[in-house]
Amino acid sequence: MAVYIIEGSTPLHGNIRVHGAKNAALPVLAAALLPPESEIEGCPRLSDTAAAMNILRSLGCRVEQQPDSTAQVDSRPAQGWEIPESCMREMRSSIIFLGAILTRYGRARVSFPGGCELGPRPIDLHLAALERMGAVIREDHGALDCTVPMGRLHGAEIVLSFPSVGATQNVLIAAVLAEGRTILRGAAQEPEIDDLIRFLNGAGARIRQDFAGTLIVDGVDSLHAVRHRVIPDRIAAATYLCCAAAAGGSITVEGCVPAHLAAVLPPLEQAGCRVRTWRDAVAITVPKRLGSLGWVRTMPYPGFPTDAQAPVMTMAAVGDGTSIFVENIFESRYKHAGELNRLGAKIKLEGKVAVIEGVPQLSGAPVSAEDLRGGAALVIAGLAAQGETQVMHPQYIDRGYAYFEENLRALGADVYRI
Ligand code: EPZ
Repeated sequence: MAVYIIEGSTPLHGNIRVHGAKNAALPVLAAALLPPESEIEGCPRLSDTAAAMNILRSLGCRVEQQPDSTAQVDSRPAQGWEIPESCMREMRSSIIFLGAILTRYGRARVSFPGGCELGPRPIDLHLAALERMGAVIREDHGALDCTVPMGRLHGAEIVLSFPSVGATQNVLIAAVLAEGRTILRGAAQEPEIDDLIRFLNGAGARIRQDFAGTLIVDGVDSLHAVRHRVIPDRIAAATYLCCAAAAGGSITVEGCVPAHLAAVLPPLEQAGCRVRTWRDAVAITVPKRLGSLGWVRTMPYPGFPTDAQAPVMTMAAVGDGTSIFVENIFESRYKHAGELNRLGAKIKLEGKVAVIEGVPQLSGAPVSAEDLRGGAALVIAGLAAQGETQVMHPQYIDRGYAYFEENLRALGADVYRI
């Protein structure tokens, strides 16, 4: 079993560059089923993006990733409309292929994505929206059997009761080649949505933003080849900033978009960190002892991102004072709290609320990653802890962080993987 071994209490110094955004690359890879050819620059080398490329290959696409991480997708040979259960199980977010497959073939068969480590992951908003666009979706022994009796999806007025990122992506991908106009209200506004819109419009789609949260898509008859560069990963950037905040020191995260971190930086500054931003970089200098972060509530963008909750909670665990977190997006996203308490943190959970009473020092111990961001949080805790920390199941971390241990070692951390 692979393990991260971390010798903590070493302040971090230096610069690292973040990779392309996982949560932008995945919907763009799904959408790449529609244009004949796509060049996706800055596509991060992650197990999740590898899983998405395998799904494209299972549908018949030719997919290559170049040494500079550019992914090339040739969808012309594709003929499959069924995603194998194994692929769906491997990556819950593969539901965002549904809109692309339905658009391409007028039918699709995918297995119900089931739950994941963050709790149940319903897809009711995805399915209701696609049905309004003319899809007929039948549940059949744990699979979704989808057809489009009219042969081609049609535009519709859709209102999302929650600004679901995945549902917004599925509607956009399904609408670009649908007959007529789709108006999507209550859409997610994450930067990864804008990135998907840039990709699709770059391939000849006609998507525009009416005003915040309302997107208008005028269906076209075909898309053309497209070259696209994926935005930087704002959650990876936040994670590295939290590594320094928890371990101490001063680092610069390059190749990121500070505006995408607008809701993450204030709690770091509240805790006493000095944050400086440039056009594509954020630098952080950490005080001797962090203070409390106050209240941190996860919200849809532009609010505080749920994916940064676990990394930021870890720095709160060593702050001088009490911080209160409210997880409003996912039902079960505090699995890392119990493991942090094994390292000496004082975190109490009450439903959506986590109360973190900062302690002067964590102490190293074996802990177990149970999800992607929670796993990263445990590595952050190991960087801050006295002594050795072992983080089991690092494969969760591989889903969303490329060159994680190399980057941490470049910042002076004593971390390696066996
Ligand atoms: C995307 O997941 C991200 N994943 C998640 O990142 C991120 O945490 C999430 O958006 C929120 O920002 C990818 O982009 C691949 P949602 P997604 O649909 O699309 C409920 C990470 O760590 N909901 O916005 O699945 C749902 O249960 C991952 O990188 C419904 O009720 O998120 C959840 O409580 C984790 N019905 C909330 O909405 C639906 O049909 C947010 O889900 C869909 C969602």
